[in-house]
Amino acid sequence: MITIVAAIGHNNALGKDNQLLWRLPKDLKHFKTVTENHPVIMGRKTYESIGKALPNRTNIVVSRKQNWFQEGILIVSTLKEALKFAKKIHENVFVIGGGEIYKQTIDAADRLEITQVEGNFEADTFFPKIDPKIWQKTFEECHQKDDKNDYDFCFQTFEKIIN
Ligand SMILES: NC(=O)c1ccc[n+]([C@@H]2O[C@H](COP(=O)([O-])OP(=O)(O)OC[C@H]3O[C@@H](n4cnc5c(N)ncnc54)[C@H](OP(=O)(O)O)[C@@H]3O)[C@@H](O)[C@H]2O)c1
Repeated sequence: MITIVAAIGHNNALGKDNQLLWRLPKDLKHFKTVTENHPVIMGRKTYESIGKALPNRTNIVVSRKQNWFQEGILIVSTLKEALKFAKKIHENVFVIGGGEIYKQTIDAADRLEITQVEGNFEADTFFPKIDPKIWQKTFEECHQKDDKNDYDFCFQTFEKIIN
């Protein structure tokens, strides 16, 4: 099972200048709960944006760079290799971004765990279109903004429609 995890604005905005667009600690906690103790696959730019290996997860980072090493992560040069390694570790694999990686994995994914952030955001990185002919929303839980979380948002699960 391949699950994509992403937080997106209404315009599918993901990030700008290699950073997130909002302060939502509740979403970060949700992300931790969903992905902890599983392999996570990410692009090199997302890894650099996070700045360190995520604890209690096998961090698999995709990069075409030669001779690039970082402590605490597994670096692979293709997505195929990333998925192969991840599946050896656990049957449930999480793809955690960013835009380039989501675009290349959405067709292979079985499930999307989306945090829909209420707003349109200026961004330079976007999530691919979630086609309603392919993806069915099976869960939604909404939260209102508060003193720590800057925007209203909803946790949503989409499952791939099997024809
Ligand atoms: N809102 C969210 O949930 C969320 C989640 C994650 C990230 N983000 C945001 O997304 C942005 C980063 O996304 P991005 O699209 O710019 O970059 P990215 O997808 O994180 O990483 C792109 C890099 O991954 C490597 N790569 C991509 N496809 C590859 C392939 N097929 N084979 C080998 N390597 C491959 C390349 O690394 P090399 O250049 O090293 O070869 C490429 O430059 C940031 O703003 C971040 O904050 C948001």
